[in-house]
Amino acid sequence: MPGTCVIGLQWGDEAKGKLVDILTEEHDVVVRYQGGANAGHTVVSGGQTWKLSLIPSGILRDGVTCVVTGGVVLDPASVIREMDGLESRGVKIGRKLLLSDRAHVVFPWHVTEDRLLDGSLSGGEAIGTTGRGIGPCYRDKVGRSLAIRLGDLYRPDFREKLAHIVEVKNRLFAGWGGAAAGIQPLDAAAIHADYALHAARLEPHVADTTAFLLDEVEVGKRLLFEGAQGSLLDIDHGTFPFVTSSNSSGVGVSSGSGVPGRWVNRVIGVVKAYSTRVGGGPLPTEQINPIGEHLRERGREYGTVTMRPRRCGWFDAVAARYTARLSGVDHLAVMLLDVLSGLDEVKICSAYEIDGKRVTHFPSHVDDLKNARPVYETLPGWDEDLTEVRGYDDLPRQARAYLDRIGELLGRPVAIVSVGPDRAQTIFRHGASFGGGAATPPASTRPPHPSAAKV
Ligand code: IMP
Repeated sequence: MPGTCVIGLQWGDEAKGKLVDILTEEHDVVVRYQGGANAGHTVVSGGQTWKLSLIPSGILRDGVTCVVTGGVVLDPASVIREMDGLESRGVKIGRKLLLSDRAHVVFPWHVTEDRLLDGSLSGGEAIGTTGRGIGPCYRDKVGRSLAIRLGDLYRPDFREKLAHIVEVKNRLFAGWGGAAAGIQPLDAAAIHADYALHAARLEPHVADTTAFLLDEVEVGKRLLFEGAQGSLLDIDHGTFPFVTSSNSSGVGVSSGSGVPGRWVNRVIGVVKAYSTRVGGGPLPTEQINPIGEHLRERGREYGTVTMRPRRCGWFDAVAARYTARLSGVDHLAVMLLDVLSGLDEVKICSAYEIDGKRVTHFPSHVDDLKNARPVYETLPGWDEDLTEVRGYDDLPRQARAYLDRIGELLGRPVAIVSVGPDRAQTIFRHGASFGGGAATPPASTRPPHPSAAKV
């Protein structure tokens, strides 16, 4: 059974890129199946730092095919910029990159709509989007009549279809105040010229990726599915409406890629050793104080895409336990553990108090989450620098106790610990093998679910 899936269990930015890069070594195909240029991942490889957004980091390795599927919304200019950046540093892309002809295309009007409509929640609150046109593009996908997919750019009626959509969008924009409101009318001919150029550049990479992936799994190729954002930003299961517009939890793998779930035999849930969130919405364990500052500065918690400072707080085990179950996680990877060094004590939120009641389930309504008061367990901190530690048993006793408690609360073993950005700064525990063909441990070997444990 050939599929591994890497899913963020928090609000994104869990350092999944580093893990995907390590696991790529043992896979044949890396699959990006949702989101768009809102994602950003940083990979440190061969002493060089790479910042990627839509193209999987597998592109840095030979013999790996990188697939961007139909579940993704694709901004051609942004993909081309990434390709140029890689090629200018000597990375040969060739046929290693496949882009789905089913992927919906981001156009300039999507970016305009993103800018205009964020902040229009009742009460004037903003989702705080990345401004990359992601939500508006998915909205047009679901609405269907104003949508263009990558494969459409190569059809004879592309110009006509585009002209029709531009006309409709210009009418909508006029209704929103037009030029007086700072919205310039769209020029169909100019947009067509730009996108025809983009289409020509991308053409060698455009393919029916659903058929490709089904062929690959059926001949036993090992697939690595790379989730973007985090499970708590999932459109259906996250902290709605403060979410992204795709299924960023494990449930999105099949719908986004076209590969049935039966081909995914191992799910690695990635968490940071603490919590971060960028944009609006509740973050129950947020620390607006020197602890939060410590996490932001030590963890370099500034957005890869937007450079916004991230909001920081203690590890939220209520939220991560929910998403570990939702995404069907087998193993946990705890990233950025080194950032916690130097704190006298470390805290884990193991329950919420909502309206005077203590709960350990994650609320389905965002207002309940806004009212949630975290109930913390406090553990002793450690001073040691962890960045040179390479064995689990060499971690300070307090750090091991912290990890053990996270594993216990989430009901899954902590199999991987990261203590720095470099590939070498990674600890594999339990002699864990992460080759593409390794089987999922039988349920009986997993620790009990924490509803059965003390919380
Ligand atoms: P959008 O995906 O640009 O529509 O933004 C919706 C929400 O998801 C905002 O709060 C963003 O900050 C957040 N978001 C989107 N992509 C990422 C990501 O890759 N990491 C962290 N947060 C993200």
